[in-house]
Amino acid sequence: MISIRPILSNTIRLIFVALGALTLSGCAGAPAALSPASPNAALVSDLFFVLFAIALVVFVVVESLLFFSVIRFRRKKADEMPAQIHGNPKLEMIWTTIPALVLVVVFWLTWQTLISLAAIPPNAMNVKVTGYQWWWRVEYPDLGIVTANEIYVPAGQDILFTLNSNDVIHSFWVPELGGKMDMIPGHTNRLWLRPTKVGIYQGQCAEFCGTAHAQMRFTMNVAPVDQFNAWVAQQKLPAPAPTTDQTRQGLQLMTTVGCQACHAINGTSARGILGPDLTHIASRKTIAAGMLPLNAENLRAWIRDPAAEKPGTKMPKVPLDDKTLDALTAYLLTLK
Ligand code: CUA
Repeated sequence: MISIRPILSNTIRLIFVALGALTLSGCAGAPAALSPASPNAALVSDLFFVLFAIALVVFVVVESLLFFSVIRFRRKKADEMPAQIHGNPKLEMIWTTIPALVLVVVFWLTWQTLISLAAIPPNAMNVKVTGYQWWWRVEYPDLGIVTANEIYVPAGQDILFTLNSNDVIHSFWVPELGGKMDMIPGHTNRLWLRPTKVGIYQGQCAEFCGTAHAQMRFTMNVAPVDQFNAWVAQQKLPAPAPTTDQTRQGLQLMTTVGCQACHAINGTSARGILGPDLTHIASRKTIAAGMLPLNAENLRAWIRDPAAEKPGTKMPKVPLDDKTLDALTAYLLTLK
Protein backbone atom coordinates (compact mmCIF):
# COMPACT_ATOMS: atom_id res chain seq x y z
CA MET A 1 0.00 0.00 0.00
CA ILE A 2 1.27 3.50 -0.85
CA SER A 3 1.29 5.81 2.12
CA ILE A 4 0.49 9.50 1.58
CA ARG A 5 2.14 10.33 4.87
CA PRO A 6 5.55 11.51 3.53
CA ILE A 7 3.80 13.65 0.89
CA LEU A 8 1.51 15.13 3.53
CA SER A 9 4.26 15.93 5.98
CA ASN A 10 6.33 17.54 3.21
CA THR A 11 3.34 19.59 2.12
CA ILE A 12 2.67 20.70 5.69
CA ARG A 13 6.34 21.62 6.12
CA LEU A 14 6.21 23.65 2.91
CA ILE A 15 3.06 25.46 4.04
CA PHE A 16 4.70 26.35 7.36
CA VAL A 17 7.85 27.62 5.64
CA ALA A 18 5.78 29.68 3.17
CA LEU A 19 3.57 31.12 5.93
CA GLY A 20 6.62 31.89 8.08
CA ALA A 21 8.41 33.61 5.22
CA LEU A 22 5.31 35.64 4.37
CA THR A 23 4.73 36.66 7.97
CA LEU A 24 8.34 37.54 8.75
CA SER A 25 8.95 39.40 5.47
CA GLY A 26 6.52 42.01 6.85
CA CYS A 27 8.97 42.69 9.67
CA ALA A 28 12.01 43.51 7.54
CA GLY A 29 13.40 47.03 7.57
CA ALA A 30 11.83 50.38 8.36
CA PRO A 31 9.18 51.67 8.67
CA ALA A 32 8.00 49.65 11.63
CA ALA A 33 5.32 50.85 14.04
CA LEU A 34 6.95 48.76 16.78
CA SER A 35 10.26 50.66 16.70
CA PRO A 36 8.96 54.06 17.83
CA ALA A 37 10.95 57.28 17.43
CA SER A 38 8.48 59.56 19.23
CA PRO A 39 6.71 59.34 22.60
CA ASN A 40 3.43 59.26 20.65
CA ALA A 41 4.39 56.17 18.68
CA ALA A 42 5.87 54.65 21.88
CA LEU A 43 2.48 54.97 23.62
CA VAL A 44 0.86 53.01 20.80
CA SER A 45 3.54 50.32 20.60
CA ASP A 46 3.56 49.90 24.41
CA LEU A 47 -0.20 49.46 24.31
CA PHE A 48 0.21 46.90 21.54
CA PHE A 49 2.65 44.81 23.59
CA VAL A 50 0.41 44.90 26.68
CA LEU A 51 -2.65 43.86 24.65
CA PHE A 52 -0.59 41.19 22.91
CA ALA A 53 0.51 39.80 26.29
CA ILE A 54 -3.10 39.72 27.51
CA ALA A 55 -4.19 37.99 24.29
CA LEU A 56 -1.35 35.49 24.65
CA VAL A 57 -2.42 34.57 28.20
CA VAL A 58 -6.03 34.14 27.05
CA PHE A 59 -4.88 32.00 24.12
CA VAL A 60 -2.70 29.75 26.27
CA VAL A 61 -5.39 29.29 28.94
CA VAL A 62 -8.18 28.57 26.44
CA GLU A 63 -6.11 26.23 24.28
CA SER A 64 -4.77 24.37 27.35
CA LEU A 65 -8.31 23.82 28.64
CA LEU A 66 -9.37 22.70 25.19
CA PHE A 67 -6.54 20.18 24.82
CA PHE A 68 -7.01 18.99 28.40
CA SER A 69 -10.71 18.37 27.75
CA VAL A 70 -10.13 16.65 24.41
CA ILE A 71 -7.58 14.27 25.91
CA ARG A 72 -9.03 13.74 29.39
CA PHE A 73 -12.66 13.27 28.27
CA ARG A 74 -11.97 11.44 25.02
CA ARG A 75 -14.61 8.80 24.36
CA LYS A 76 -13.39 5.29 25.01
CA LYS A 77 -14.74 2.11 23.45
CA ALA A 78 -16.45 0.92 26.62
CA ASP A 79 -18.07 4.32 27.34
CA GLU A 80 -21.83 4.50 27.56
CA MET A 81 -23.77 7.58 26.53
CA PRO A 82 -22.92 10.19 29.23
CA ALA A 83 -25.62 11.80 31.37
CA GLN A 84 -27.33 14.56 29.35
CA ILE A 85 -27.33 17.90 31.14
CA HIS A 86 -28.54 21.38 30.28
CA GLY A 87 -26.50 24.40 31.33
CA ASN A 88 -24.13 25.01 34.23
CA PRO A 89 -24.82 28.39 35.88
CA LYS A 90 -21.54 28.51 37.80
CA LEU A 91 -19.42 27.82 34.70
CA GLU A 92 -21.41 30.29 32.62
CA MET A 93 -20.97 33.02 35.25
CA ILE A 94 -17.20 32.42 35.21
CA TRP A 95 -16.82 32.47 31.45
CA THR A 96 -18.90 35.63 31.19
CA THR A 97 -17.28 37.52 34.08
CA ILE A 98 -13.62 36.85 33.26
CA PRO A 99 -13.79 38.01 29.59
CA ALA A 100 -15.85 41.04 30.70
CA LEU A 101 -13.14 41.99 33.21
CA VAL A 102 -10.43 41.46 30.57
CA LEU A 103 -12.34 43.79 28.22
CA VAL A 104 -12.71 46.41 30.96
CA VAL A 105 -8.92 46.36 31.47
CA VAL A 106 -8.31 46.55 27.69
CA PHE A 107 -10.79 49.44 27.38
CA TRP A 108 -9.22 51.35 30.27
CA LEU A 109 -5.67 50.98 28.89
CA THR A 110 -6.81 52.04 25.39
CA TRP A 111 -8.76 55.00 26.80
CA GLN A 112 -5.73 56.21 28.77
CA THR A 113 -3.57 56.01 25.62
CA LEU A 114 -6.17 57.88 23.57
CA ILE A 115 -6.35 60.64 26.19
CA SER A 116 -2.56 61.04 26.19
CA LEU A 117 -2.45 61.13 22.38
CA ALA A 118 -5.29 63.66 22.13
CA ALA A 119 -3.85 66.22 24.56
CA ILE A 120 -2.35 68.78 22.16
CA PRO A 121 0.53 70.59 23.88
CA PRO A 122 0.60 74.40 23.76
CA ASN A 123 3.30 76.08 21.62
CA ALA A 124 3.39 73.26 19.11
CA MET A 125 4.72 74.16 15.68
CA ASN A 126 1.99 74.25 13.02
CA VAL A 127 2.26 72.15 9.89
CA LYS A 128 -0.70 71.86 7.55
CA VAL A 129 -0.81 68.77 5.36
CA THR A 130 -3.43 68.29 2.64
CA GLY A 131 -3.93 64.97 0.87
CA TYR A 132 -4.36 65.01 -2.91
CA GLN A 133 -4.69 62.08 -5.29
CA TRP A 134 -1.75 61.09 -4.96
CA TRP A 135 0.60 63.46 -3.18
CA TRP A 136 0.81 65.70 -0.12
CA ARG A 137 0.76 69.50 0.06
CA VAL A 138 2.77 70.65 3.07
CA GLU A 139 2.39 74.16 4.45
CA TYR A 140 4.00 75.95 7.38
CA PRO A 141 1.48 78.74 7.96
CA ASP A 142 3.62 80.52 10.58
CA LEU A 143 6.75 80.37 8.42
CA GLY A 144 5.22 81.13 5.01
CA ILE A 145 6.54 77.94 3.43
CA VAL A 146 4.76 75.69 0.94
CA THR A 147 6.30 72.42 -0.19
CA ALA A 148 5.27 68.87 -1.04
CA ASN A 149 5.86 65.28 -0.01
CA GLU A 150 8.94 65.95 2.13
CA ILE A 151 8.14 67.30 5.59
CA TYR A 152 10.95 68.80 7.67
CA VAL A 153 10.59 69.15 11.41
CA PRO A 154 13.01 70.03 14.20
CA ALA A 155 13.90 67.21 16.61
CA GLY A 156 12.52 67.47 20.13
CA GLN A 157 9.82 69.99 19.23
CA ASP A 158 6.07 69.38 19.50
CA ILE A 159 4.52 69.51 16.05
CA LEU A 160 0.81 69.98 15.44
CA PHE A 161 -0.35 68.62 12.09
CA THR A 162 -3.58 70.02 10.71
CA LEU A 163 -4.86 67.43 8.28
CA ASN A 164 -7.25 67.94 5.39
CA SER A 165 -8.04 66.40 2.05
CA ASN A 166 -8.63 68.00 -1.33
CA ASP A 167 -10.57 65.08 -2.83
CA VAL A 168 -11.14 61.68 -1.18
CA ILE A 169 -10.28 60.26 2.24
CA HIS A 170 -6.54 59.74 2.79
CA SER A 171 -4.73 58.79 5.96
CA PHE A 172 -1.56 60.35 7.35
CA TRP A 173 0.79 57.75 8.78
CA VAL A 174 4.47 57.69 9.73
CA PRO A 175 4.76 54.28 11.40
CA GLU A 176 7.79 55.13 13.56
CA LEU A 177 6.43 58.52 14.65
CA GLY A 178 2.67 58.18 14.78
CA GLY A 179 -0.67 58.42 12.99
CA LYS A 180 -2.76 56.97 11.40
CA MET A 181 -5.08 59.93 11.17
CA ASP A 182 -7.70 60.20 8.45
CA MET A 183 -7.66 63.21 6.14
CA ILE A 184 -11.27 63.92 5.31
CA PRO A 185 -12.57 66.38 2.70
CA GLY A 186 -14.36 69.27 4.41
CA HIS A 187 -13.23 68.27 7.88
CA THR A 188 -10.06 69.13 9.77
CA ASN A 189 -8.30 66.56 11.92
CA ARG A 190 -5.44 67.33 14.26
CA LEU A 191 -2.52 65.15 15.21
CA TRP A 192 0.47 66.09 17.30
CA LEU A 193 3.87 64.45 17.50
CA ARG A 194 7.17 65.04 19.23
CA PRO A 195 9.81 63.40 17.03
CA THR A 196 12.78 62.83 19.29
CA LYS A 197 15.31 61.01 17.10
CA VAL A 198 16.98 62.66 14.14
CA GLY A 199 16.40 60.71 10.94
CA ILE A 200 14.35 60.34 7.79
CA TYR A 201 11.11 58.48 8.39
CA GLN A 202 8.94 57.00 5.69
CA GLY A 203 5.29 58.01 5.60
CA GLN A 204 2.52 56.39 3.64
CA CYS A 205 -1.13 57.03 2.90
CA ALA A 206 -2.96 54.42 4.97
CA GLU A 207 -6.44 54.67 3.47
CA PHE A 208 -7.20 53.26 0.04
CA CYS A 209 -7.74 56.33 -2.11
CA GLY A 210 -7.60 55.12 -5.71
CA THR A 211 -5.21 53.84 -8.36
CA ALA A 212 -1.94 55.25 -7.00
CA HIS A 213 -2.73 54.80 -3.30
CA ALA A 214 0.33 52.59 -2.79
CA GLN A 215 2.53 55.27 -4.40
CA MET A 216 1.23 58.04 -2.14
CA ARG A 217 4.31 58.30 0.03
CA PHE A 218 6.14 61.01 1.89
CA THR A 219 9.06 61.44 4.24
CA MET A 220 9.33 63.10 7.61
CA ASN A 221 12.82 64.52 7.94
CA VAL A 222 13.54 65.02 11.62
CA ALA A 223 16.54 67.37 11.69
CA PRO A 224 18.61 69.02 14.44
CA VAL A 225 17.25 72.52 15.13
CA ASP A 226 20.06 74.39 13.31
CA GLN A 227 19.68 72.21 10.21
CA PHE A 228 15.93 72.75 10.31
CA ASN A 229 16.43 76.52 10.56
CA ALA A 230 18.77 76.43 7.57
CA TRP A 231 16.14 74.51 5.61
CA VAL A 232 13.50 77.10 6.58
CA ALA A 233 15.73 79.99 5.48
CA GLN A 234 16.32 78.35 2.10
CA GLN A 235 12.66 77.42 1.54
CA LYS A 236 11.53 81.00 2.23
CA LEU A 237 13.60 82.34 -0.65
CA PRO A 238 11.95 82.81 -4.05
CA ALA A 239 13.08 80.50 -6.84
CA PRO A 240 16.59 81.29 -8.08
CA ALA A 241 16.63 83.08 -11.44
CA PRO A 242 17.89 81.03 -14.41
CA THR A 243 21.45 81.84 -15.49
CA THR A 244 21.91 79.98 -18.79
CA ASP A 245 20.11 80.17 -22.11
CA GLN A 246 18.68 76.68 -21.69
CA THR A 247 17.34 77.30 -18.18
CA ARG A 248 15.97 80.71 -19.20
CA GLN A 249 14.16 78.94 -22.00
CA GLY A 250 12.98 76.33 -19.48
CA LEU A 251 11.40 79.00 -17.29
CA GLN A 252 9.65 80.52 -20.30
CA LEU A 253 8.37 77.09 -21.36
CA MET A 254 6.81 76.57 -17.91
CA THR A 255 4.26 79.19 -18.97
CA THR A 256 3.92 78.41 -22.67
CA VAL A 257 3.40 74.63 -22.43
CA GLY A 258 0.96 74.91 -19.52
CA CYS A 259 2.91 73.81 -16.39
CA GLN A 260 1.87 76.99 -14.57
CA ALA A 261 -1.80 75.95 -14.75
CA CYS A 262 -1.15 73.44 -11.94
CA HIS A 263 2.21 74.38 -10.43
CA ALA A 264 3.49 77.41 -8.59
CA ILE A 265 7.06 78.69 -8.61
CA ASN A 266 7.47 81.51 -6.14
CA GLY A 267 9.09 84.50 -7.82
CA THR A 268 7.75 83.67 -11.30
CA SER A 269 4.33 84.00 -12.93
CA ALA A 270 3.55 80.32 -12.22
CA ARG A 271 0.79 80.30 -9.58
CA GLY A 272 -1.08 77.00 -10.09
CA ILE A 273 -2.44 75.25 -7.02
CA LEU A 274 -3.59 71.87 -8.35
CA GLY A 275 -0.15 70.27 -8.24
CA PRO A 276 2.89 70.43 -5.97
CA ASP A 277 4.68 73.75 -5.48
CA LEU A 278 7.93 73.59 -7.46
CA THR A 279 9.75 76.62 -6.01
CA HIS A 280 12.44 74.43 -4.44
CA ILE A 281 11.81 71.12 -6.16
CA ALA A 282 15.54 70.50 -6.67
CA SER A 283 16.03 70.50 -2.89
CA ARG A 284 13.84 67.41 -2.62
CA LYS A 285 15.13 63.87 -2.80
CA THR A 286 12.25 62.37 -4.74
CA ILE A 287 9.50 63.20 -7.22
CA ALA A 288 6.03 61.72 -7.77
CA ALA A 289 5.29 61.59 -4.00
CA GLY A 290 8.30 59.59 -2.89
CA MET A 291 8.16 57.22 -5.84
CA LEU A 292 11.22 58.15 -7.93
CA PRO A 293 14.60 59.49 -6.81
CA LEU A 294 15.03 63.02 -8.13
CA ASN A 295 17.56 63.08 -10.96
CA ALA A 296 17.59 64.42 -14.52
CA GLU A 297 16.67 61.09 -16.07
CA ASN A 298 13.66 60.44 -13.82
CA LEU A 299 12.45 64.04 -13.95
CA ARG A 300 12.58 64.08 -17.76
CA ALA A 301 10.79 60.71 -18.01
CA TRP A 302 8.16 61.96 -15.55
CA ILE A 303 7.43 65.14 -17.53
CA ARG A 304 7.42 63.20 -20.83
CA ASP A 305 4.78 60.68 -19.71
CA PRO A 306 3.72 60.88 -16.04
CA ALA A 307 1.24 58.00 -16.18
CA ALA A 308 3.88 55.66 -17.59
CA GLU A 309 5.87 56.22 -14.38
CA LYS A 310 2.92 56.34 -11.98
CA PRO A 311 -0.30 54.83 -13.33
CA GLY A 312 -3.33 56.89 -12.34
CA THR A 313 -1.49 60.16 -11.80
CA LYS A 314 -3.55 63.30 -12.48
CA MET A 315 -0.60 65.01 -14.16
CA PRO A 316 -1.46 65.08 -17.86
CA LYS A 317 0.84 63.96 -20.63
CA VAL A 318 1.71 66.96 -22.77
CA PRO A 319 3.35 66.11 -26.10
CA LEU A 320 6.77 67.80 -25.91
CA ASP A 321 9.81 67.53 -28.14
CA ASP A 322 13.24 66.53 -26.82
CA LYS A 323 14.57 70.08 -26.74
CA THR A 324 11.61 71.27 -24.67
CA LEU A 325 11.93 68.33 -22.27
CA ASP A 326 15.65 69.03 -21.84
CA ALA A 327 15.07 72.74 -21.15
CA LEU A 328 12.26 72.10 -18.62
CA THR A 329 14.32 69.43 -16.84
CA ALA A 330 17.42 71.63 -16.74
CA TYR A 331 15.47 74.59 -15.38
CA LEU A 332 13.66 72.58 -12.67
CA LEU A 333 16.96 71.09 -11.49
CA THR A 334 18.24 74.61 -10.74
CA LEU A 335 15.40 75.20 -8.26
CA LYS A 336 17.37 74.38 -5.13
CU1 CUA B 1 -4.18 58.63 -0.30
CU2 CUA B 1 -4.32 56.28 -0.04
